Amino acid sequence: MAFSCDMLVFGGTGDLALHKLIPALYHLHRDGRLHADVRILALARRHLAREQYLALAERHCRAQVARADFQKEAWQGFAQRLDYFAMDASQRGEFTRLARHLGGDRERVRVHYLATAPDLFEPIANNLHTAGLAGEQARIVLEKPIGHSLESALAINAAIGLVFAEPRIYRIDHYLGKETVQNLMALRFANALFEPVWRAGHIEHVQITVAETLGVENRGSYYDNAGAMRDMLQNHLLQLLCLVAMEAPVRFDAEAVRNEKVKVLEALKPIAGLDVQDKTVRGQYGAGKVGGQDVQAYYFEKNVDNDSDTETFVAVQAEIDNWRWAGVPFYLRTGKRMARKRSEIVITFKPVPHLLFEEEQCNRLVISLQPEESISLHLMAKAPGKGMQLEPVELDLNLAKAFRQARRWDAYERLLLDVIEGDSTLFMRRDEVEAAWRWVDPILKGWQGHYRKPRPYPSGVDGPELARQLLDRRGHDWWP
Ligand code: BG6
Repeated sequence: MAFSCDMLVFGGTGDLALHKLIPALYHLHRDGRLHADVRILALARRHLAREQYLALAERHCRAQVARADFQKEAWQGFAQRLDYFAMDASQRGEFTRLARHLGGDRERVRVHYLATAPDLFEPIANNLHTAGLAGEQARIVLEKPIGHSLESALAINAAIGLVFAEPRIYRIDHYLGKETVQNLMALRFANALFEPVWRAGHIEHVQITVAETLGVENRGSYYDNAGAMRDMLQNHLLQLLCLVAMEAPVRFDAEAVRNEKVKVLEALKPIAGLDVQDKTVRGQYGAGKVGGQDVQAYYFEKNVDNDSDTETFVAVQAEIDNWRWAGVPFYLRTGKRMARKRSEIVITFKPVPHLLFEEEQCNRLVISLQPEESISLHLMAKAPGKGMQLEPVELDLNLAKAFRQARRWDAYERLLLDVIEGDSTLFMRRDEVEAAWRWVDPILKGWQGHYRKPRPYPSGVDGPELARQLLDRRGHDWWP
């Protein structure tokens, strides 16, 4: 069943709207997943006529979607839903004009998507309220990061909470919309095989890697104030950690799933003070080569301070202090300008208790989110022929092939549809975001208190050497 609504995209001329949201909405339209009556209104300060915005949106959409997916006719149909409204969202008076433009249908669902800087969240929510646009039928979508510290996240959540009730707030983390992330829950909770070994007694360590080849592109002014910890680890990587570590929810619904995730975040062992030196590594990319191209150092990027000490790489050894996971290291790392783009979770099992063969290696379960969506189990097998030569082999499940998928859904398609349908299972609840900050804040403070410049690493490698030593000290290796 498709649902009708007005989708308002604040920050309508920004990167997120043009690169992700409009292409995702176009795909939903093209695939017949949007109710005929869904209207999309992009809002931004620039004075553009509707036609000019449509041309801008079309140009970006063509550049983002695969050539075969862009169909002129489908775009024309989509463009009929799309409108543009020039306004300054920090000015209260502008919202009266907006309300008039939208018309007075109080029963209509309105989704306010804030693809803006977080400092606009509170004024926009208040202005929506004053203009009568935040009634019972209104929902608000907030992009991560929610704040830049625990204190600012608490303030944003409190301010938004005065206007919108929690079930109408959708804090988006697009990693939760990736198919393989949801498949992780299917793998764990719809198969009896893994549960008995999914615990400290059998698992040696867990690694979560989100590596990018891109630099900061044209987001220097945002990124230089954020860094890899706030931009990626506080949200995407901790969400992945929650899904690996959480207990089975009693039901697959928004409250039950999120209750379990919060418990994991609350059980994270604090890393503070001098521990920060031992358990975390910060890095910053220097000049180097990525994909055969020369690229410049981070501090030469546009809108980045030449003397910047913002980290573009971070690795952390986390631990979860609970019955299931006590003593199991969870190694998290993420960075820009790394050797190749990949996001994966690697579960390394303990070795067999008694060695019969020389070549034995540990079993591994590798859950890959990108570039391929796949799950593979690494086992030891006997090589063909005489003797008992063992070799590692992979039991491989390529999800796109298994489901004969012609096109992979983008995470935003799935999540936008969930907002329209009112399903918040794959969105972060207030206490989740705050629990994540509660763990991250002391690390950020530790970095300030025991100041060390981030370790330089040349673009095109997997972070600084110190990140290898972080695992080496505990007898482990990053995989592969
Ligand atoms: C965003 C970060 O949330 O995720 C970006 O702000 C990052 O810095 C992006 O590049 C990575 O997303 P994906 O889906 O390409 O792995």
